[in-house]
Amino acid sequence: MTPISLKVDNIIENNETFRTYVFKSSMKAKPGQFVMLWVPGVDEIPISFGWKTDEEFHLGIGKVGDCTEALFKDIKVGDRLGIRGPFGTSFDLKDHKKIMLVGGGTGTPPMLNLAQRAVEKGIEVQVVLGARNEELLIYEKEFESLGCDLHVATDDGSKGCKGYCTNIVEENLKTHKIDGIYTCGPEPMMVKVAQMAKEANVDCQVSLERYMKCGFGICGQCCIDGTGFRACKDGPVLDGNIALQHSEFGKYKRSSSGRIVEL
Ligand SMILES: Cc1cc2nc3c(=O)[nH]c(=O)nc-3n(C[C@H](O)[C@H](O)[C@H](O)COP(=O)(O)OP(=O)(O)OC[C@H]3O[C@@H](n4cnc5c(N)ncnc54)[C@H](O)[C@@H]3O)c2cc1C
Ligand code: FES
Repeated sequence: MTPISLKVDNIIENNETFRTYVFKSSMKAKPGQFVMLWVPGVDEIPISFGWKTDEEFHLGIGKVGDCTEALFKDIKVGDRLGIRGPFGTSFDLKDHKKIMLVGGGTGTPPMLNLAQRAVEKGIEVQVVLGARNEELLIYEKEFESLGCDLHVATDDGSKGCKGYCTNIVEENLKTHKIDGIYTCGPEPMMVKVAQMAKEANVDCQVSLERYMKCGFGICGQCCIDGTGFRACKDGPVLDGNIALQHSEFGKYKRSSSGRIVEL
C-alpha cells in the first residue's frame, strides 16, 4: 500500500483542461481499476487506468481543482509521481459479442482501456462519447484506431449530434443488438444509461465516483448510504441494476468531510 515512485515519461495535451500522463511500467491492472496518484506536497487522488499495454499505462486527467491544477502547473516530463494500486473492481466483458461503451468527460479513459481489451477478444465495440463541445471531446482518434464504431454528441452541436449522448444510446439500443453496456462519466448520465439498459434487459456495468482516501476499503470515506457499499473496494465498477438500488446514485455524493454534495 506504499506508493511506488514512477517517472512521467510523456505528457500529451489533449485540450486546455485535459492531459494524458504516460508511465513506462508493466503494472498489471484490469479495465475499470484505478490507482491513487500522489502529487508530492499536494494531495493523493484516485485516477482510472486509460490506454494500457504490457509496457506502459496512461492516466488521462482533467483539471478540476487543487491537486489537478498543481499537477498541470508543476509536473513536467521526467518528474516523479507516487502511485498506489491497482485498486477496485473491474469491468467484466462476459461472453458478449457486441457491446456499447458510453463515456463522458473524465470518465472516458477507462472506456478506452476497456475498448482495447474487448477488441483483443474479438468483440464488436460501439462507443458513444459526450462532451459540452467539440474541443472537450477526447480520445476519438484512439477509439477509431481500435476499429470502434464511434458516435459523438455535444451539448452545443459543434460535433456529432446536438444534445446529450444518452439520446444516441436510446436510438442505438433500438437499432442494434447490444449484449452489454458499460459506462463511466457524470452520474446523471450513468443513471439514464442504467435505466435504459434495465428497460431493454441488457447487461449494464457502471463506474461510481466517490471521494476516496485509503483506496482499499479501510477508512470508510467512500461508503454509500444504506448499504455501506465501499466504492473503492466493492466498486468502483458495479452492476447497473444494483447501482439503481443505491438511494444516493445520481442524487448526491459526499465531500472529504462527509458533507452531502448534491449532483
Ligand atoms: C475511482 C475513480 C476514478 C477516477 N478516475 C479519473 C480519471 O481517470 N481521470 C480524471 O480526470 N478524474 C478521475 N477521477 C476523479 C478525480 O479523482 C478527481 O477529479 C480529482 O480527485 C480532483 O482533485 P482536485 O484536488 O484537483 O480537485 P478538488 O478541488 O479537490 O475537487 C474537485 C472534485 O473532485 C472530486 N475529488 C477531489 N478529491 C477526490 C478524491 N480524493 N477522491 C475522489 N474524488 C475526489 C470531488 O468530487 C471534488 O468535488 C476518478 C475518481 C474516482 C473515484
Ligand atoms: S476510500 Fe477508504 S474505504 Fe474507500
